[in-house]
Amino acid sequence: MSKKKKPVRADAFKPIKKIVIFSSFALTLITLGILFFVYGGEDLGPQLPPPPANAIYRQADQPIDERVQDLLSYMTLEEKIGQMSLVDKNSLIKLEDISRYSLGAVLSGAGAKPDINTAVGWANLAESYKTQAMQSRLQIPILYGVDANHGHANVPGATVFPHAIGLGASNDPDLVEKIAFVTSEELLATGINWNYSPSLDAPKDIRWGRVYEAYSDDPETISRLGSAYITGTQRMESGVLASAKHFLGTGSMRWGSSEHKTYQIDHGIIPESENALRRYYLPPYKAAVDADVASIMTALTRFGDSRVVDNKYLLTDVLKGELNFQGFVVSDWYGTYEYANTGDYSANVKTINAGLDMAMLPFEYKNFLNDVRLAVDRGDITQERIDDAVSRILKQKFKAGLFDTPIATRLTDAFGSKEHRVLAREAVSSSAVLLKNDAVLPLSKSTDRILVAGSGADNVGRQTGAWTVEWQGIDGNDLPGSTSILKGLKQVAGNDIEIEYDESGNFNQKASVGIVVVSEKPYAEGFGDNPNPILAIEDLQAIENTKKQADKVVVVLLSGRPLLITDQLQNWDGLVAAWLPGSEGAGIADLLFGDTPFTAKLPIAWPATLQQIPMQNNGQTSDDTTLLFERGYGLN
Ligand code: BGC
Repeated sequence: MSKKKKPVRADAFKPIKKIVIFSSFALTLITLGILFFVYGGEDLGPQLPPPPANAIYRQADQPIDERVQDLLSYMTLEEKIGQMSLVDKNSLIKLEDISRYSLGAVLSGAGAKPDINTAVGWANLAESYKTQAMQSRLQIPILYGVDANHGHANVPGATVFPHAIGLGASNDPDLVEKIAFVTSEELLATGINWNYSPSLDAPKDIRWGRVYEAYSDDPETISRLGSAYITGTQRMESGVLASAKHFLGTGSMRWGSSEHKTYQIDHGIIPESENALRRYYLPPYKAAVDADVASIMTALTRFGDSRVVDNKYLLTDVLKGELNFQGFVVSDWYGTYEYANTGDYSANVKTINAGLDMAMLPFEYKNFLNDVRLAVDRGDITQERIDDAVSRILKQKFKAGLFDTPIATRLTDAFGSKEHRVLAREAVSSSAVLLKNDAVLPLSKSTDRILVAGSGADNVGRQTGAWTVEWQGIDGNDLPGSTSILKGLKQVAGNDIEIEYDESGNFNQKASVGIVVVSEKPYAEGFGDNPNPILAIEDLQAIENTKKQADKVVVVLLSGRPLLITDQLQNWDGLVAAWLPGSEGAGIADLLFGDTPFTAKLPIAWPATLQQIPMQNNGQTSDDTTLLFERGYGLN
């Protein structure tokens, strides 16, 4: 029932009333104007004074848990929700929003680079975010995250290491730990303190566009190398957080099950039973938790009748409960909303209640802030859940020393340094697998001439693959400080051997040996889902052309996955699976000339036919036929 006001005679007070009404109206307008100017017109909750300079959380010598609790006790609900937000650089409306909303983190999703795309440009951008975070009432340091999954490769001039599949082939945890550590050094040179790596995915189907981001499909190998990567990334003095991804079951999705309009496998459905998930996919996360990983990223997939990001059983009961994960759970890209079909408000409620602690927000963040606050006001999300999420985030920030490190700390000399490139060259040699050698390798250093051909021979973009400068990678040699395989061959061969190069393999003179470096074009995520991964016609032609003049031909394959080569293999004298080796092509030359021995073994099986895939969890074919090469195969 609506209330009515009692009528009063007010004629006598009319002029005074007008003045009063006018002044209060004006006053309200002025106040609103000031509020709008200062806070963008939003209700940011109570405006409180900053905590004292000697507050416990500001003291480096206090125990971390006490610092967390102390800081939490000063925080308003709005500040807490701000900490739970991870905003993409390209969607940050104003720099001031970082302090206004007390944002917990920003990211540069692949390709979200600074206007000046150099190490200094990145460092200046990172510094502007960190400085802005310090303008907030509580001065909570901000995280800035990138995908440095094969070195800090977003930045031209960085050392680019082999993609994970190559490191899986090396199967060398010490090497992986060193690579992760120097990657952290290069990140810190540009002020970045969060790496969305390692991937703990286990690819079962070579048609998937993310096979190369994984170490292997063998849970033990993934566990060993994933935890080494985490340890290397998070060595205390480095101050960088790792993020193991994509929890859980990623790599098992079936062709055609993707919920994404243009993908086939990526973002697909996980067909595994809970038992299989526990047996084959959970152990690497157990190892990651044991290695004290700071954050874990959820998958963009569906398991059973819920999305993984909505799955309270997996995120809270299994990950945080059974595995005792103490870090924070972050969603992937638009994952909180993508395929939720319930509207943003409900999606936020569902994911946060399932156990999500920080939401990646690539497109907008104000609705997230408002919706989560509303959900707490309405009791749809409890204050305890918010406090748990925020405590987890703060704890990792304290552990990484972010509260106690000056903003402008930079390790500038480390970026793309000579020592890092030496390590990367070593990694290249440790990761390329020798699959066939009919008395052609090592190349003799007393040969007069070597013919070199193929799309990947003089193309650093093909060598480095995607997640290099651009999300989908680059094509060509425009990568400062890098060495193509051709350049590497020339360096290692010395002056006495003539290296003749023609991409298409059209040579006029005979030689005892030809090397044809064939390659896949770079691709990332679902854009690399490929129904029939085979060699390009131009590369097959380059091999045929080279054979006309070379007595023997070695094929070096640059690819993010095994390609179907069964029909061609018999025509080649040698085959090296070099994966996506990165910026140091000389590492391949070291192997071909025998300066370094081949030691790598296949980290995943190499199918002979399309019918054999997807592979079973035990590494065997689906139809019981014989593989081209078993997992673990590799010549010395
Ligand atoms: C990928 C993640 C990545 C994130 C941020 C997503 O599309 O699935 O692996 O960390 O983008 O770039």
